Amino acid sequence: MQITRLTGTLGAEVTGIQVSGDMPAAEFDALKSALLRHGVIAIRDQSLTPAEQLAFVRRFGDIHFHPHVHGLPEQPEVMEILKTETDTSNFGSGWHTDQMFLTEPANYTCLYGLEIPDCGGDTLFACMRQGYRTLSPAMQRLARSLRTLNRSVASQMAGRSASAAKTFSSMRAKDAPADETLAEHPMVRLHPETGEPVLYVGLHSVGLAGFSEAEAKPLLDFLMQHQARPENTCRLRWQPGTLAIWDNRSVLHNAINDYHGQRRRMHRITVKGGPTKAYPEAA
Ligand code: SIN
Repeated sequence: MQITRLTGTLGAEVTGIQVSGDMPAAEFDALKSALLRHGVIAIRDQSLTPAEQLAFVRRFGDIHFHPHVHGLPEQPEVMEILKTETDTSNFGSGWHTDQMFLTEPANYTCLYGLEIPDCGGDTLFACMRQGYRTLSPAMQRLARSLRTLNRSVASQMAGRSASAAKTFSSMRAKDAPADETLAEHPMVRLHPETGEPVLYVGLHSVGLAGFSEAEAKPLLDFLMQHQARPENTCRLRWQPGTLAIWDNRSVLHNAINDYHGQRRRMHRITVKGGPTKAYPEAA
């Protein structure tokens, strides 16, 4: 297995392995360590059926089902992300980490490239560890004392002109939830496996517990911009057969919508997570 870092901050490309079949436990452990270390890994040149992708992802934990999008009829754990030649919006644009709008957000996401535009359709990633580390000590202290309020994009748009179904027109969207509650999370989250603090703010974060909207918005806007500074990011150029896995507890991602008129089709599986824990306020 060869591991090549994508940037000085996060991301790695992995070659020399096949994830289908019986990947030896030691190889899987090395891959998972690389994932925890680099936040996102891209494994090139895979050839996977939905069932094979699922068998691999199950090694990371139980499968999470997306609350707003149906899975494939023949393999419900696998969600197809599709933008066709005639669609204008894409699924997954904007900086976010998966299912932050739930009280138990997903741990990992595994995305497999099937049909990739000739150019465009890359995915950006940003490091939430670095997002926290590069705040001033005073802002770190403030952030450790705060809790964010989070809502899904579908629910943020409910009542506005665009419905979730219209936005992701070629995807198998479920009806937008009418009464989704806000999920509250610590702004500085303790990564349950590495023990590190991460700045846990994304596009689902719509407010701060105990703050008015006018007070919360400027701070959330600043933190989002801070996290997504170029030196905190990496960019993944997809090829058919690229399998990426990212850790939703340490990276944000953002699917770039720059390939109108071309088709992009991916298979996505997410792994269940648990309740979020705060990095100790006094740390
Ligand atoms: C997502 O899971 O948010 C979509 C990412 C992508 O399609 O690149």
